[in-house]
Amino acid sequence: MSTATSGPTADKVVSVVSPHAHLSEDYARAENDKLWGKVWQVACRVEEIPQVGDYVTYDIVDESIIVVRTAADKISAYYNVCQHRGRRLTEGCGHAAANKFTCRFHGWAWNLQGENTNVLWREDYGDQLRDDHLRLKPVKVDTWGGYVFINMDPDSEPLRDYLGEAARILDPFELDKMRFRWRRWLYFPCNWKTALEAFMEGYHVLGTHPQLTKIGGAKKSWSRAYGKHAVFGVKAEGSIGGATAGAKGSADIRKGIRDSVNELWETVNASTTQTIVNVANRLVDELPEDATPEQAGMHLMVNAMKEDAARGVIWPKLTSEQVQESGIGWNLFPNTMILHGPTFVLGYRARPHGDNPDSCIFEVYTLDRFPEGEEPKTENLYTPQEDTGAWRKVLGQDFGNMQAVQQGMKSRGYSGAKLNPEQEMVVENFHRTLAEYMGVNAPKPLK
Ligand code: FES
Ligand SMILES: [Fe+2]
Repeated sequence: MSTATSGPTADKVVSVVSPHAHLSEDYARAENDKLWGKVWQVACRVEEIPQVGDYVTYDIVDESIIVVRTAADKISAYYNVCQHRGRRLTEGCGHAAANKFTCRFHGWAWNLQGENTNVLWREDYGDQLRDDHLRLKPVKVDTWGGYVFINMDPDSEPLRDYLGEAARILDPFELDKMRFRWRRWLYFPCNWKTALEAFMEGYHVLGTHPQLTKIGGAKKSWSRAYGKHAVFGVKAEGSIGGATAGAKGSADIRKGIRDSVNELWETVNASTTQTIVNVANRLVDELPEDATPEQAGMHLMVNAMKEDAARGVIWPKLTSEQVQESGIGWNLFPNTMILHGPTFVLGYRARPHGDNPDSCIFEVYTLDRFPEGEEPKTENLYTPQEDTGAWRKVLGQDFGNMQAVQQGMKSRGYSGAKLNPEQEMVVENFHRTLAEYMGVNAPKPLK
C-alpha cells in the first residue's frame, strides 16, 4: 500500500508546470500511445449496460472500444473494428440485436463473446481464414465504484492496484450504489487537461465563485497525493461534503446553512441532495436561534439520514475520520474527477477531441442514491456552452476560466503554472504522473 506522497510541506517546494502539455500538437499525438494506450480509464457506468447485449462505445482519440454486458455478472470489452476491412461496428450506446454485432459493410457478424458467427460466402476464402483471424480483439476491463474501466495495455497492473489508496478511501462511500441523476457533455475549446484542472482544487473558489463564500467567508483547502491519484478537501466542520462548511461564521447558523445549501442546489445542481435541501429549509423551525454550528450540522445530517431512510435510501456508515480523510474531490488519474458525498457525486470526465490540443470532449454528471426501482432514466445530453440555464451559474464561471486559461497559456509572457504547494497538489501530482507516462514535461522546482 502506498502512503501519501505529498501534501502540506514545511519546506514548501513550489512546482512549475510548463504549458507544453496543454498546447503542443506533437504532445497531443504522443498521448494517444503513451498515455491512453496504457492507463486504466473510465469507459462508462455499470448502470448503462444492465442487460446482456447492452453496449457502450467508448471513443478515445483514434481508438474506439465496445464495452458490452456478456452475462449477468460479466462485462467484456473489444476493439471496435470489423476484422474484414476495418469498419467500426458500433457507435454510441444500445443493445446488440439478437446478441450480435453485425458489420454494416459486408455483414460479417460476431457474438457477445467476440467470436465470428458469419462471414458471407466464407467458402470463397478456402481454408485460409481461421477462427483466430476473425475474433474481435479483447481489451482489459474491470469495475470499481459502479464505474467500468478499460485498459488497452495487456500487461497493465490490475485495476485495484492501479487505484490503490484512492479506492480504499472512497470505498466506504459506496459509489457503486449511486445512479445518474443528470449528465451533459459538450465540445470545449481547451485542452482536456485544462478542463479537468479547473476542478482539481478548491483554491479558486473565492476568485471564481465569490457568491459561494458570501456566508462564511473563504475556506483554505488542503491537497494530498496518493500515488497516481490525489485529493483536495477543506477542514470538516460538521459538514456534509462541504455543504455546510460555508455557513460557519454566519450570524444565524440555521439560516446560514439553509442559504448555502440552497445556493449549491440552485447554482451547481449538485454537491447536495433534495433531501438535504428539504431538511435545511426546516432548520429555522426545528432549532433554537442560538444553535451552534456543530449542533446545526449534526441536526442536518441526522435528519437527512432519517428522511432518506424513510424513503428507502440508506446512507453508508461513515466515521468522521473517513469523511475528513476522503476530502472533497479526487483526481483518478488521468481524466476523471469525483467530488463525492455520502449519497451523491459530482463527476467530470475530459477527453481529447481528436489530436487538436485546443479542443476536448467534456462531460459533467451527478450521481445520487435512489430508492430501488426509482432511478431515473437519463441520457447524456449534448449541451453547448451557451445553454447557461442547463449548465447553471457555477459551471458557467468555471467554463470562463477554462477558455481563458487555454488562450492565456499561449502568451510569450507566460512561463508555466506556479502551483500552490498546499492547495494545488492535485494538479502537481497529475502532471508528475502524466510526465512519467509521457517521458517529458515533469514539474520543476521554481527558481
Ligand atoms: S468491413 Fe465489415 S464486413 Fe466488410
Ligand atoms: Fe469551480
